[in-house]
Amino acid sequence: MTKSVAAPQAKGKSAEDKIFGANNRATALAEQLGADKVINGTVGSILDEDGNLVMLDVVQKAYKALTPKEIVAYAPIQGYPDYLEAVIDQCFGESRPEGYIRACATSGGSGVLHHVIHNYSEWGDDILTSDWHWGAYNSMCTDNGRHLREFELIGPDGKFNLESFKANVTDMVAKQYNTVIIINSPANNPTGFALSSEDWDHVLAFLKDVVNGKDKNIILVSDVAYLDYSGEKQECRKFFKKFGNLPSNILVVVAYTCSKGFTMYGQRMGAMICVTSSKDVADEFVAINQYTSRATWSNSNSAAMKAMVNICKDPKKVAELDAERAEYLELIKERADLFMKEAKECGLKYLPYLSGFFITIPMEGSQKVCDLMEKEHIFLVPLGKGIRLAVCSVSKKKIAGLAAKIKAAVEATGAKQ
Ligand SMILES: Cc1ncc(COP(=O)(O)O)c(C=O)c1O
Repeated sequence: MTKSVAAPQAKGKSAEDKIFGANNRATALAEQLGADKVINGTVGSILDEDGNLVMLDVVQKAYKALTPKEIVAYAPIQGYPDYLEAVIDQCFGESRPEGYIRACATSGGSGVLHHVIHNYSEWGDDILTSDWHWGAYNSMCTDNGRHLREFELIGPDGKFNLESFKANVTDMVAKQYNTVIIINSPANNPTGFALSSEDWDHVLAFLKDVVNGKDKNIILVSDVAYLDYSGEKQECRKFFKKFGNLPSNILVVVAYTCSKGFTMYGQRMGAMICVTSSKDVADEFVAINQYTSRATWSNSNSAAMKAMVNICKDPKKVAELDAERAEYLELIKERADLFMKEAKECGLKYLPYLSGFFITIPMEGSQKVCDLMEKEHIFLVPLGKGIRLAVCSVSKKKIAGLAAKIKAAVEATGAKQ
């Protein structure tokens, strides 16, 4: 037996991350054979057409202009006040909802999810999200003694599966005091799916109804990690308006991150933003989450906050930022369109994709298909019910022909679509 000194609740934890694992193998092979011989469809960051990691120019300039104090100072635990204002403004744009809106700086979007799970659900609770979700949600729940429960995101008609959502929430509300729900839309990871305006109306009307007159709460987490690459700037934000004027037992927490929108992935900067009709709930939100920040990572990254703020307070820089994002939104769209066109031509199924970094090819037997593809130097991420392709990071040249290769691997391995 291997020796272990871990405490009982920590025994057996291990983080063999399939995404980073495949990425490491792809990178090693590219070093050996040359980057043009390898297709790495695992990376969840924007790479340009030459395969270089993109850092937006306006962000590069903002970093270079930082003063030593801006870089190294301890920031207030809640975050610099001007950062919190900038975050709220950047997040909502022209669609700021009515109500009490407060923000706390977090370590990326991951920090938001951690704090919500930690502070708004109890030990042993279920946390609800869709069957197609970012794998880290599982670890975050398990590591905190919670269980991630799934509703079916997409029904047989290719639309949002409201019935599955309702059935799960109804059951959870009956059993739990708080029901935490994470909805990653628009640009869902891994599918690129999004709830429509009507879907949001139905979801919110149902949530109001299900806790009406009850001493029960809903905590709705709107994970918008890929918001800035999900459509026209104001159009893709319109659904935020719907978060206003909800009853006080529904708290909306928006998981905002600078990782993608500002290409600051490794800088670990984000914010949790609450929308509530109750001042007490808003005050409590700041108090308990600030406390948890102090109790986990303490202050957030000063340089990242100041770089972001220095862009946001200058309209010219914001215009530059918007233009750069629009350019990459277009590039990702061109890659996705090419893949979907070829997939249709060769009869490879894919899930309804609207925007975002990833496309999912649903199937049973994804691991076998990915293993076979790796032999052809193509690296993709096997998921429980499909394969994830990162269109944010594969050039158009490499996307061309990829659908047919996946289709051939599906047939060769006998995987079922
Ligand atoms: C769905 C989703 N939510 C949130 C995040 C948050 O990332 P970060 O903690 O880097 O901001 C990611 C990053 O990959 C993501 O895919």
